[in-house]
Amino acid sequence: MAAGVTRVASHSSFWWGAATAAYQIEGAADEDGRGPSIWDTFCAEPGRVTDGSSGAVACDSYHRWPEDLDLLADLGANAYRFSLAWPRVQPRGQGPVNQAGIGYYDRLLDGLLERGIAPVPTLFHWDLPQALQDAGGWMARETAERFAEYASVVAEALGDRVAAWGTLNEPFVHMALGYAFGTHAPGETLLLDAFAAGHHQLLAHGLATQALRAGPGDAPVMLVNNLTPVRAASTSATDTAAARAYDAFHNRMFLDSVLRGAYPDELGAAVAGAGAVVRDGDLSVIGQPLDLLGVNYYNPTQVKAPGPGSPLPFELVPIEGPAQTGFGWPVVPDGLTELLVGLRDTYGAGLPPIVVTENGCSYPDELSPDGTVDDSDRIAFLDAHIGAVGEARAAGVDVRGYLVWSLLDNFEWAEGYTQRFGLTYVDFSTGRRTPKASYGWLRDRIARGW
Ligand code: BGC
Repeated sequence: MAAGVTRVASHSSFWWGAATAAYQIEGAADEDGRGPSIWDTFCAEPGRVTDGSSGAVACDSYHRWPEDLDLLADLGANAYRFSLAWPRVQPRGQGPVNQAGIGYYDRLLDGLLERGIAPVPTLFHWDLPQALQDAGGWMARETAERFAEYASVVAEALGDRVAAWGTLNEPFVHMALGYAFGTHAPGETLLLDAFAAGHHQLLAHGLATQALRAGPGDAPVMLVNNLTPVRAASTSATDTAAARAYDAFHNRMFLDSVLRGAYPDELGAAVAGAGAVVRDGDLSVIGQPLDLLGVNYYNPTQVKAPGPGSPLPFELVPIEGPAQTGFGWPVVPDGLTELLVGLRDTYGAGLPPIVVTENGCSYPDELSPDGTVDDSDRIAFLDAHIGAVGEARAAGVDVRGYLVWSLLDNFEWAEGYTQRFGLTYVDFSTGRRTPKASYGWLRDRIARGW
C-alpha cells in the first residue's frame, strides 16, 4: 500500500474526495468481454431515458481513467469511491472471472495507490448482468448467492489493495425505482411486492460481507444507503402515520435490518405479504456487524396520507420554499445534520462510523467561451453541506469522510445527459474534461481540512 493511504479514515485522516459509478462513467460497453447489463437493455427501450441516450460511451473513463485519477490527485482527494461493473468481471453474472475485465480495476487500484488515494469500490451500483435479470433479477433469491460468489472473486483479485468495500449502492432506490415504479432498470412496476427485491439485496449484502471478510486484506465493509429525513405534511394523525410508513420503507428497512437484525413493524403488509421471501436466519446474516455506514444524502422528503384506494401507505408532497437544484430537488443542508445526528440518537452504540459517500447537486452548467464553468450554485451547495457535516461532528457524530457526487458530469440514469452533477464539466461529444469553479473551491476547502 502506498504511503499516506489509510485503510479506514480516522479523525485525523478524514476522507475527502468524490464518487462515481461504473455505468455512469466507464462507457466501453462492448469491450474486453463485458456482458450486457440491465441498463444496456433498459436504455435500448424507446422512451425509458429522457434524451434517448445510454452509458455505452458515457465519459469514456474506461480509456481516460489516468486523466480522471489525475483530476482526483490535483483536487487533493485522499479517497475515491467508484463501482465495479459486475458484467465486466463476470459477463453472465456467474462463472469464471473475465481477466480482461478485472484487469481494468487492477490498473485503477494501482493508479489510485500511486497517487496516494484510498480506493473505495462499491460492488453493485445497479448494473446487474442481464443474464441474472433473465433468471429473475433481485426478485430471485439466487441472485444474492451469485452476488456472494462475485464478491469472493473480486476479493481474491483486489482485496489486498482496497481501503474499504461498499457492498451495494442504495438498495432502497434500486428497489423503488427499478422494481416498484419502473423508472429505472429493470423497469418493473411491482409496487409493494418489490419488497422481495429489497430483501434479496440485503441478503446479498450480508452474504457478500462474509465473502469479503474471508478474502485477502482486512478492508472495512460498508453498506451505502440513500437516506432522507422524512417530514409529515401536517400534524394530523394520518399524515404522521404516512410519514412513519415512508420512513420505514426508505430508511429503516435498510438500517434496522443491518444494525438491529430486524425489519421495522411499519413495513406491515409488505412483509406479511412476502410469505416465504424472508427465511429463518436471513436477518442474522443481514445484521452481522458492519464496519462503516455509507450515507448518501440529497434532500429531505415530505409525505402525506394517501388518497382513497391508493395501493401505497403514503403519498409524496413537493417541499416548497427552499431553493432547488437543476433537478428540482430542494436544497436543505440542515437536513444532513438532522439525518446524521438522528442516526446517532436512534442507533446509539450500534451505529458504526459514517462516511458521507455521496452528496451533490445538478445544475445546467455551461462552458463559457473563455473555457471556464462558473457553478457558483454548486459552491454554495457544497459549502453549506460540508458545514452541515461539521455541525454533526461537533455534536459528536463519528463522520469519517465526505465524498462529492460526482467527480465528473455523467450519465444520470433515466435523465441521460441532461443533469450535470460534476465537479468537472464533460463535453460528451469529445470527452474533454474541464474542471468547474467548484473543483477549485473544493481543492481549497480540502486543503484547509477541519
Ligand atoms: C445515485 C447516483 C446518482 C445520484 C444523483 C444517487 O442516488 O447513487 O448514481 O447519479 O444519486 O441522482
